Amino acid sequence: MVVDAYLAFLEKLRHRRGLDLGGYKRPQMERRINSLMRMVGAKDYDDYLLILEKDQEQWHKFLDTITINVSEFYRNPPQWEVLIKTIIPMLIENVGVRFRAWSAGCSTGEEPYTLAMVLDHNFPQLNYSILATDIDEDALAKARVGEYSERSLAGLPQIYIKKYFEVENGIYRLKDSIKKKVQFKKHNLLRDPFESGFDLILCRNVVIYFTEESKNELYRKFHQSLKPGGVLFIGSTEQIFEAQEIGFELVTSFFYQKRMDRNSKSFLPGSKPFLSR
Ligand SMILES: C[S@@+](CC[C@H](N)C(=O)[O-])C[C@H]1O[C@@H](n2cnc3c(N)ncnc32)[C@H](O)[C@@H]1O
Repeated sequence: MVVDAYLAFLEKLRHRRGLDLGGYKRPQMERRINSLMRMVGAKDYDDYLLILEKDQEQWHKFLDTITINVSEFYRNPPQWEVLIKTIIPMLIENVGVRFRAWSAGCSTGEEPYTLAMVLDHNFPQLNYSILATDIDEDALAKARVGEYSERSLAGLPQIYIKKYFEVENGIYRLKDSIKKKVQFKKHNLLRDPFESGFDLILCRNVVIYFTEESKNELYRKFHQSLKPGGVLFIGSTEQIFEAQEIGFELVTSFFYQKRMDRNSKSFLPGSKPFLSR
């Protein structure tokens, strides 16, 4: 029997390091891993695995390469504007005691902190909490510190920068009033159990290397995690092909709402469904 070296490597990774790359697209992963292997002079996958086990720096480099943490504040501004002007006012009508949001694949914190600033500034009466998760502990550690360079803030309107950051030697430090609104946690979207009861879930620019099968599974799980009428906000190059079957309605590009009732297809009372794309 011919052994598929890549699959055998994945199996050992899963077994020995608890990391399951089975849900990621093979060509992209293979290319990146092979390039890392060349850089450290690994002869084959087993050799590379030994290096990863001995050398923490290489392990972190490996994780960095497969996850790609690029993020920025207020990424894709027009979508944040739709969120502020349309989606959140619509969701607020349905909020219970507290508005709960989840930034899934939050990287170094720019996305959940943007949401916290947006909520704080535009909806000051709202009682809200934000869960922010990522598979990458290094990214989460940076997120918790809450210090950023000017570059990552380039798209953020000045009003938020002035109100929520302190600047010192070119470092932009987020104020505690915003930091304390976000709870960061390690979480693997392809493996760990999901919390539920969310009004809003953001999962943007995360699934790019996921297989179609794992994307579908993920969107189904997000659907279960949302409250009826809750909204899933996805990235600007993404689309949910099975939205209807899962039980989502497209509100406007990149925003999918969980149907109040799967059979009646009704929306939130007073909301404006089906904004034109
Ligand atoms: C490009 S960043 C996106 C950050 C942010 N959502 C944004 O749009 O700016 C992708 C993030 O997804 C995370 N990620 C990749 N696979 C994941 C998984 N299986 N579970 C949780 N997070 C994952 C990566 O660690 C990375 O931080």
